This record gives sequence, C-alpha cells and structure tokens, in this order.
Amino acid sequence: MIQAKKITKVYGDQHAVDQLSLDIPQGQFFGLLGPNGSGKTTSIHMLATLIRPTSGSITINGLDVQSHPQQVRRDIGLVFQESALDRMLSIEENLYFCAGLYGINKDAITARMNALLDLFELQSKKRAPVGSLSGGMRRAVDIIRGVLHSPKVLFLDEPTVGLDLPSRRKIWRFIRQLIDDHKLTVVLTTHYLEEAAPCDNVAFIKLGKLVSEGSPEELLKELGKTIVEVDGPNVDDYIKKLNLKTEDYMLDGRTLLIRVHEPQHDQVVQIQTTLRDSVDVISVRKSNLNDVFIWLSSKDQGIS
Ligand SMILES: Nc1ncnc2c1ncn2[C@@H]1O[C@H](COP(=O)(O)OP(=O)(O)OP(=O)(O)O)[C@@H](O)[C@H]1O
Ligand SMILES: [Mg+2]
Repeated sequence: MIQAKKITKVYGDQHAVDQLSLDIPQGQFFGLLGPNGSGKTTSIHMLATLIRPTSGSITINGLDVQSHPQQVRRDIGLVFQESALDRMLSIEENLYFCAGLYGINKDAITARMNALLDLFELQSKKRAPVGSLSGGMRRAVDIIRGVLHSPKVLFLDEPTVGLDLPSRRKIWRFIRQLIDDHKLTVVLTTHYLEEAAPCDNVAFIKLGKLVSEGSPEELLKELGKTIVEVDGPNVDDYIKKLNLKTEDYMLDGRTLLIRVHEPQHDQVVQIQTTLRDSVDVISVRKSNLNDVFIWLSSKDQGIS
C-alpha cells in the first residue's frame, strides 16, 4: 500500500530524513518511532503529499505521490497533533464542512458520519460546539474527520499526546476497530512506546535514518526478552564484577539495566549470585519497546 524508496529531505545542510525506505502492506498497523527531531513528522509529511522529498520516490496504492498528489489525497486521511477543527462549529458542522472539501454531498456522508459517531460514542454530542468538548473527545472527532472520506491509509502523528490513560486506551480501541472493519492501513508515530506494542511492524529512526525494523516481537527477541535491573551505590563496580560488554548494559541514572537473552536464563541467576551481597535491589522483568528505544538511542552499533 505504501512504498517509499530512499526518501531524503534536506533542510539547509541538515538531512531531516536520510535515505529512508519503507514497504507497508495493506491493512498493516505500522509504527514509526524515534527520539525528538529524528524525522518522523517530516517522513509522514512526505508520505502524505504535504512536502516534497529532496530525493527518492513514494507510491501509495500504486500511485506516485509526486506526480499524482490529488488522487493520492483521496486515498489518505491525516490526523496531526494540532487539531484541524473549528472550535466554534459543532461536531456535525465540522464533519459536513470536511466532507464538502472532499466533494462528498451531505446525503452521501450522513450514514457514514453517524456510524462513526456511534463507534466513537459521540452521537449524543454531535450538536455541541467542538470548543466545549474534552481533549479526548476532540481527538476522537479529529480521527473521524480523518477517516470520513473512507481513505485506504490513515496517518496519525502523535494522536494521543496530552491525553490521560483511559482516553488514550479508548482512542486505540477505536483505531483498532477501524483497522479491523475497513482493512485500513495505519501509520502511527508516538512517544508512548507501549502504544506501539500492538503494531504489526515498527521502524525506529535516528537522525533521519532507519536503524531497526521488524515486528515488536522480533525486536524484543533481538534485544533480549528479559531485563535485569540492578540498583545500588557502586554501579561501575557491578559492571566490572559481571564483566559486562558495553552493548549488553545501559545506565538509567543509578539503575543498571542488563539485557538477557532467553536461552541464557542462567545468566540471571549468575547476576543474582555475583551481586547478592553488594546491591540494594535486583529485579527481573520482561523487556519492552521502551528498552529497545533506549538501547537504540544510545548505542551506535544498534542492538544485535
Ligand atoms: N521546515 C523545516 N525547516 C528546517 N528544519 C526542519 C524543518 N522541519 C523539520 N526540520 C528539522 O528536521 C529534523 C526532523 O524534524 P521532525 O519534526 O521530522 O522530527 P520528529 O521526529 O517528528 O520530532 P518530534 O518527536 O519532536 O515530533 C529536526 O532537526 C528539525 O529541526
Ligand atoms: Mg514530530
């Protein structure tokens, strides 16, 4: 559904995105992850026809984005961090206005709009001004606006930023429903990495370059499925005692994180035995995408 070949965006002498290639099949839930300034928004803007790549090519649903931007725009929906809604107008007025922009008439859109308002539990609010809604509800209306014209692809750039946990969970339930009901392809960026865990595939980018890609399951396997956290006063001493390789540990303040691959579970016991008398706390937990993120962000050599 989405193919990007070596896309690059240069601003001045800076490569905001550097030779990024992506291949995202229809119906995939794809997460584009990376630290602040790594080029996520720039990449999404290029995929969504909003800015032109300096070099490289993109097709969406087989259409070249640069030579057919109008047709591509009919196939895509966008939800960005900044709301695109008019706060003075009601939900319904906003949505009819948006449908008008796509050249869809009121009768044709009413049934779909009502189905989406039902799905997002906003039917009873449809005549309320958008300015009177909570942040979570407003974000839901933004998403309805993004999918009102039945796009094949939905781009979500940090859709849940600033929302509390229950609102974020609700938004994700809705999005999952849209993916399942309509075989929608979704490209997501988020800083809440636990939100990317249900993605089929994720790509981590750093300084505009792809550094790792795969299913969350694959990336966690590569990192090591277990993390041992060690707290105590002499972290440098523990590293020496355990003879740790640089790529196998991270320091998070005073906490030492050690990654352990599943087949080497005796390693956990060995860590516990070696450090038993000198540390305050040793805890063992499953690794998660946040660990992948901090490992990739700080290690130049990647995580393999
Ligand atoms: N219009 C622009 N002019 C100049 N530089 C830009 C422009 N847009 C982005 N950049 C630069 O490109 C880099 C990537 O920015 P981008 O917004 O894509 O990052 P991001 O991964 O979305 O970051 P965040 O997580 O903070 O949203 C940054 O260094 C940014 O300063
Ligand atoms: Mg961004």
